[in-house]
This record gives sequence, structure tokens and C-alpha cells, in this order.
Amino acid sequence: MVSYKELGLVNTREMFAKAVKGGYAIPAFNFNNMEQLQAIIMAAAETKSPVILQVSKGARNYANSTLLRYMAEGAVAYAKELGWEHPQICLHLDHGDSFELCKDCVDMGFSSVMIDASSLPYEENIALSKKVADYAHQYDVTVEAELGVLAGVEDEVSAEESHYTRPEEVIDFSTRTGCDSLAISVGTSHGAYKFKPEQCTRDPKTGKLVPPPLAFDVLHEIEKKLPGFPIVLHGSSSVPQEYVDMCNQYGGNLPNAIGIPEEQLREAAKSAVCKINIDSDSRLAMTAAIRKHLAENPSHFDPRQYLKPAREEMKKMYIHKIVNVLGSDGKAE
Ligand code: G3H
Ligand code: 13P
Ligand code: ZN
Repeated sequence: MVSYKELGLVNTREMFAKAVKGGYAIPAFNFNNMEQLQAIIMAAAETKSPVILQVSKGARNYANSTLLRYMAEGAVAYAKELGWEHPQICLHLDHGDSFELCKDCVDMGFSSVMIDASSLPYEENIALSKKVADYAHQYDVTVEAELGVLAGVEDEVSAEESHYTRPEEVIDFSTRTGCDSLAISVGTSHGAYKFKPEQCTRDPKTGKLVPPPLAFDVLHEIEKKLPGFPIVLHGSSSVPQEYVDMCNQYGGNLPNAIGIPEEQLREAAKSAVCKINIDSDSRLAMTAAIRKHLAENPSHFDPRQYLKPAREEMKKMYIHKIVNVLGSDGKAE
């Protein structure tokens, strides 16, 4: 058993309380490899933003769970080396799908875990989320649970259509589970294809596809039921057109990739939404930069040559999100 406190990590309790009060959101960025982690830490250190490092079950399988955990520990030391005196870094399990997985993460030094039982019937979701919260809270590890189903693919759980969170259930759910934050469904979804073109309208000026707006009425109803309670938005990549175009220009094939417009995320960040999950935008930034570099430098074969611009592009993207979308810069001086 390792406590995250020994690793210099923090749980989400204080960062969320401040974010809800201050009208901004904490970035939750997924990482699977060293370059993503470096870019996240460089961006957070440079902007003095609290940050949540998210690790999915897939990331643990890809990179090795022990290695990832030690990388997060190293990230705290690296942040200090970059001149960030008091880094506020949380290590969070993204979309935990069983008690055993959540327990394993708590036991190896995660400071926060998500139990995603949102695809289970209501009472089973409550029972499993409560079991995880009861265990995690013994070690002061914070717990995110989910109510409502997002469209798209959530790890191995796939939902054809989203089912918005029902505001009338949130008080009962949060009270009975004891969760510290609640992931809700208000129209976001995972991946780079969040909407079908037929769900969108076309902007007559730019010719670009405009997705349907998020269900802010549902979000506001939830806020009214749970004043001050930390709300989480998954599936919040904006799928920047420049990266999609760059991928496509240099040999990729990403037709009709569509994300959540940043102005809507900006609006959400000002509400009780205090954690915004972004993974796909990092994947797009990295792939776009690698494709461009290799297309322009066909003789290069040293991975450092193409991973360096990829890391720089991701760092630029993370800083943009922190400063221009979430507003979390300067909140962890
Ligand atoms: O919500 C899912 C995250 O983007 C993680 O995706 O399971 O492919 O690592 P992954
Ligand atoms: P995106 O696919 O929109 O980046 O969402 C990531 C996410 O919700 C991770 O849990
Ligand atoms: Zn998610």
C-alpha cells in the first residue's frame, strides 16, 4: 500500500472546491506515454495550473500500470525542476469499470479514481459506486461516479445514443454513493466523431458544420439540485479543425471529425463543471505533428526527431485549453 501523499500528489477535493467557487475548471488530460506526460507537465508548470493526470484501463494495459504510476511520481519531481514550487497534480483513474481496478489504483498511489458504472441499472450503479467510495475514502482518495450515458465509446462500454443525466436522480445518487464528484451526460461524447454530419447545421459564412448545443438546461437543473457540488464533463475535446486538416493533408483519413465548440466549454467551465476531460485533442495534435514532420522529412528515422515537434504541439494545445478555455491558469501558484 502506497499513499499518494508520499508521492507529492493531491486529491481533487480542494482543487474542485476552489474551481467551483472561482468559476473555472481543472483540466483532466489523459496520458499513455512519456511525451504526453512531459507536455502536460510543461504546460501546467508554465501556466501554474492545477492538473489531473488521467490514466485509463487501456493506458495501463498499453504502458504497464507500474511504469505509469512511477511516471506520475516522476512528474511531480519534474514539475518542481521546471520551477513550479508547489505543484498541484492529481493522479486519477479514468473510467474504472470494477471495484478491483479501483482498489488496485488506490493501493498503488492514485489520489483519485473514477468508477464508471453508468451502463448498469441505477441501483447497481449506486451499489458499486458506493463500494468504491467507501474503500477509497479510508485513504482520503476522492471518487468520481457517473450518472447518465454518453454517446460514443467509453472504453469497452459502448452506447448507441446518449441518455442525458436525469436531474431528479442526482441528489439520491450522490447522497447514497458518497461520491465526491459527478460525471454527467449533457450532450458530450468520446472520440473525434462526436456528431454525425446529419445532426449538425452548416454555418452559412464559413461552410463549417455546427454541432447541436450542449443541454445547458439539464446542466443548470443539476446545479440547482446540488449547489456547489463538483460536476465533471467527459468527452470534451473540441477536435480542432487545423489538426484534422493537417492529418488529412499528410496522408490521414479523418472524414467529418467533429468536436464540442470551445465557447460552449468555456461557458460550462464557469458553472459547477469543475473538471473537463480532454484526450482526443492530444491524440490529434500528436498525430498531426508526426504526420507533417515525417512527410516533410522522409529521411528521418530517429523517433526524437518527430516526437519533439509532436510534444511541442501538444504543449501548445494544453496551454491554449488551460488559458483560453478552462481558465485554470495561475490557480496553483
Ligand atoms: O474516455 C476515454 C479516454 O479517452 C481513454 O481512452 O480507453 O482509449 O485509453 P482509452
Ligand atoms: P475526448 O475523447 O473528447 O477527448 O474525451 C476524453 C474523456 O472523456 C476521457 O475520459
Ligand atoms: Zn471519459
